[in-house]
Amino acid sequence: MRAVVALATAVVAAVAVTVFVQNDQGEASAGPVAANAPYQPNSDHDSGNAGHAASGRTDAAEGQAASGPQPVTEVDKTFLVAVRQAGLWEIPAGKLAQTRASSEQVKRAGLHLLDGHSKLDQLVREDARILGVDLPDEATPEQQEWVTNLENAKGAEFDRMFANVLRASHGKIFATIGEVRAATQNDLIRRHSRQANQTVLDHMEVLEDTGLVDGSTFADVEKAVQPK
Ligand SMILES: [Fe+2]
Repeated sequence: MRAVVALATAVVAAVAVTVFVQNDQGEASAGPVAANAPYQPNSDHDSGNAGHAASGRTDAAEGQAASGPQPVTEVDKTFLVAVRQAGLWEIPAGKLAQTRASSEQVKRAGLHLLDGHSKLDQLVREDARILGVDLPDEATPEQQEWVTNLENAKGAEFDRMFANVLRASHGKIFATIGEVRAATQNDLIRRHSRQANQTVLDHMEVLEDTGLVDGSTFADVEKAVQPK
């Protein structure tokens, strides 16, 4: 009996190692996949904010191999570019908050930006590589100007500028993510939009928690996201 248990344990360990090695050599860079937990289409709906589940990523690749390449539309590509550029200005903004903000809530929001976009930026670069989408290495001129404005502010002025400029930009991209998620035919874009949605929602909430977001900022977002 003891020998049977030992053999079973060894087999499970061997399978786990095999899956890990396959994953390590493949596209996914996340951790090992549980050998006894095959991907279910809806099984990752409550996986939290930890990025793409490794199982989802692996099966997305397998699914595409089985059914042929999935379309990547211009909307999908533009979405990945927008996620990349969000990180390119929000990471510097989050860092600035740690030294220039006077509000502890603004510093906290900055930490959420740093953490969320560090993870999302890694994912967007992986997904863009898999899908053959070129990503920029610079934020937009408007985003660069926002960073410059934040660099030139401090204390209460910094706090208010940070909360409002970032809340406005998050509100606008939140609507875009919904449109992308609703219409894309690409599994990888679906998963990416899900992760981006969670990250942007978190950032809107911590920015609102500062208590510094003006009514005019919400009005600006409302105007921007109204159906054309
Ligand atoms: Fe963000």
